[in-house]
Amino acid sequence: MCGIIGIIGTNPVAPLLLKGLERLEYRGYDSAGIATLDNGRIGRRRAEGKLFNLADLIAREPIVGTVGIGHTRWATHGRPTEANAHPHASDRVAVVHNGIIENFRDLRAELVRGGHIFETETDTEVVVHLITEHLNQQMSPREAVAEAVARLEGAFALAIIFAGRHDLMIGARRGSPLAIGYGDGEMYLGSDALALAPFTNRICYLEEGDWVELGQDAATVHDASGAVVTRDIKQTALSGAIIGKGQYRHFMQKEIFEQPAVIGDTLHALVDPLRRRVELPDFPFDLSAAPRLTISACGTSFYAGMVAKYWFEQIARQPVEIDIASEFRYREAPLPEGGINLFISQSGETIDTLAALRYAREQGQKILSIVNVLESAIARESDVVLPTLAGPEIGVASTKAFTTQLTVLACLTIAMARARDAVSAETEAALCTALTEVPACVAEILNHDTAIRKIAHFLAEARDVLYLGRGSTYPIALEGALKLKEISYIHAEGCAAGEMKHGPIALIDETFPVVVCAPSGPLFEKTASNIAEVAARGGSVVLISDKEGIGKMGDYAEHTIELPPIDPFVAPILYAIPVQLLAYHTAVIKGTEVDQPRNLAKSVTVE
Ligand code: G6P
Repeated sequence: MCGIIGIIGTNPVAPLLLKGLERLEYRGYDSAGIATLDNGRIGRRRAEGKLFNLADLIAREPIVGTVGIGHTRWATHGRPTEANAHPHASDRVAVVHNGIIENFRDLRAELVRGGHIFETETDTEVVVHLITEHLNQQMSPREAVAEAVARLEGAFALAIIFAGRHDLMIGARRGSPLAIGYGDGEMYLGSDALALAPFTNRICYLEEGDWVELGQDAATVHDASGAVVTRDIKQTALSGAIIGKGQYRHFMQKEIFEQPAVIGDTLHALVDPLRRRVELPDFPFDLSAAPRLTISACGTSFYAGMVAKYWFEQIARQPVEIDIASEFRYREAPLPEGGINLFISQSGETIDTLAALRYAREQGQKILSIVNVLESAIARESDVVLPTLAGPEIGVASTKAFTTQLTVLACLTIAMARARDAVSAETEAALCTALTEVPACVAEILNHDTAIRKIAHFLAEARDVLYLGRGSTYPIALEGALKLKEISYIHAEGCAAGEMKHGPIALIDETFPVVVCAPSGPLFEKTASNIAEVAARGGSVVLISDKEGIGKMGDYAEHTIELPPIDPFVAPILYAIPVQLLAYHTAVIKGTEVDQPRNLAKSVTVE
């Protein structure tokens, strides 16, 4: 799973490739590399680790050429070493690849029997040898690529350059996204429009099975059968500007603090504050009529969906099923006629979520998605898209995308409740009022940053941390645990408060912090019992609640974080903020790479 870029033009290409790769590091940062044509010969520079290592290498050992390809890697097959870094190359061809060639072992064995010598542990290297083999049989580059691609199983987006051919670059896609960028005397290939935004805003997304021949001024697109086809060229609104950290130390910190503004922007687009009514764009299907709403997503986006299940069921009386996208499609669950499938994704490129969407489409479901990147594959393949207006999220651990997803989901719940006659106009008005108060409440919670940092010192000492929540804050316990483990590397588990006694309670001793998300309200008393159970076993409670809850149970807690009193409806959005800050400060104290934690990637484009 990786980011790829290709540029064919007349300007020195290495700095341009680095610029594009900077914007693709969210897809992986295990290694990076570029290949260019230097007087017709393939030259390469590759480096382990983050992109700055490659930039340093190129500064020490410059590479010339006006045609080139680049890659940033999230290792799947083969360790994250320089030898395994893309581009992979022979003396005739260089290749960058995003995806997984699933039959690479068979192909590799066949090629080795034919005398090919492999230099890497990657799946991608078979593509180089296959194309080289065909070129050696006097095929044209186009024929050689067509023959090679026909042998590949799995998912791929490829960008390929050929020794001696300054006038040609070939791209191909199946399963993984690939976009063409149209410049002025320069043409581009990229995993997404974001990578190409510094160069052009004229973008064409290749469709499944397409491949393309690029020259400096033109692109010829072929479909899977080889026929020349026309694909739409779209203007993207993405900015080419580099996004900075401003006054903040990390992108994650900046993104946490942007939440009052971006939740406000998202609400502004969906709620009429005067009429206290949700106004969604027109839907091509009836929101009131679905026998079931099926939600699929991954990671943090999945937890947003879990919160929404409580909302849809309680407020809209809409039956909901939810599953992580990587499981959903393989369960082959029967989907009811007229069902709506909802997909939630920050990037809109997560391959498991996209595959689940395609499965639902095959089953005749209506496809609704909530995405942050409107140019993404999931957005393009949906019947309706509700955007989160979080702006670019750079930190690998999702924060503002999550709370804006919750904001959109809360609005969708209200719209669906109205369509299903499940709420009165007064209830809708009250829910809208609660929502419009969220940005100010989030800003107020952010004022507790210094106090939360002190509590993070306590968590930073722990080996394991348990998070508890009940009802719609149960998914926030899961999200809090995920945030902590992904950026601080402390093992953490989220648990439904009522389920603790069925297992996790055995872990509790004096060394074991338990973070409890417990807004006062109808479920508080039950969670209060669980807090007492933890305290009775010597566990140290960090209680996140409001004045009333802390008044009742604060004595059982080692630390408390007091949030403003709010309507229980919006509690999950607000309780997300302290768990983000706890994770952030714990990671900073532990000295981890907050924005790019080890082994992770922002967008996971392999299954
Ligand atoms: C990765 C990211 C998570 C994200 C998940 C789903 O694991 O590190 O932060 O929640 O992918 O990504 P999506 O873009 O589909 O929301």
